Amino acid sequence: MSRLLNKVALITGAASNPGLGRAIAIRFAQEGAKLVITDIDEAGLAACEKELVALGAEVLTMKQNVVDEQRWQEVVDASVERFGSLDVLVNNAGIAVMRPISQFTQADYDLQMDVNMRSVFLGCQKALPAMIKSGGGSIVNMSSVAGLRGIPGVSVYGVAKAGVQILCKGIALEHAADGIRCNSIHPGLIDTNIQNDSRRDNPEEFKKLGATVPWGRMGYPEEVANCALFLASDEASYVTGTELVVDGGLICK
Ligand SMILES: NC(=O)c1ccc[n+]([C@@H]2O[C@H](COP(=O)([O-])OP(=O)(O)OC[C@H]3O[C@@H](n4cnc5c(N)ncnc54)[C@H](O)[C@@H]3O)[C@@H](O)[C@H]2O)c1
Repeated sequence: MSRLLNKVALITGAASNPGLGRAIAIRFAQEGAKLVITDIDEAGLAACEKELVALGAEVLTMKQNVVDEQRWQEVVDASVERFGSLDVLVNNAGIAVMRPISQFTQADYDLQMDVNMRSVFLGCQKALPAMIKSGGGSIVNMSSVAGLRGIPGVSVYGVAKAGVQILCKGIALEHAADGIRCNSIHPGLIDTNIQNDSRRDNPEEFKKLGATVPWGRMGYPEEVANCALFLASDEASYVTGTELVVDGGLICK
């Protein structure tokens, strides 16, 4: 109940239900964190805020497009103004533009890279000064197993997620002396709204997806949230610049 007591945590992409950001926000609230939740989806954000408040959490809710640099500064400043510090950043917001490289347009490429990679760079860059002032902290960046392996139809998404992984390592080195840890989480197949396109387009194939995982099923958002909780908390005090794969054994082979 107190693994994040008195910590201020900013989580992007918290609106989706089921979604990883919401699950992380709920898990953090259960452990005493003060929360800043953001997303482009205002209705989803409001619903998430309601759930967090019901858990007794103090919450600041802000609409944010994570590709907007100016908005990042406003979100970080508002977080510090409201709660006095910024201890944890979870760069979770993301999209999946999935199609073969031959069908990828320049616009697809720019969108995928902006939302999944540039946003993480912006978030880290804007949050770091506030975290340094707070005496240190933990950054958790959402990558993917697609950043660790080549997967047909997922190349550019994978490039963005591989970039997130390496960005973490650079930040871990540059800011170790500031007491800031930075790690990436690499989920496999987790049953959230990001799967809706494949659920709709290939319903029969989608039903079989779980069976392709050694663990025999897709993951639950809460299973990723527990990993984010560990990395955010002081229990991970010697864990930095590394990747935590949460995939039911999907990429063991
Ligand atoms: N679910 C999986 O299987 C899986 C696997 C690997 C990695 N991931 C990563 O986990 C993260 C969360 O994914 P999810 O499964 O919860 O997806 P989701 O689609 O359920 O939720 C993503 C959230 O991000 C928000 N978002 C999208 N673009 C945004 C923008 N420009 N600015 C602000 N918010 C924006 C959406 O509104 C949504 O609330 C993503 O980075 C995704 O790439 C998911």
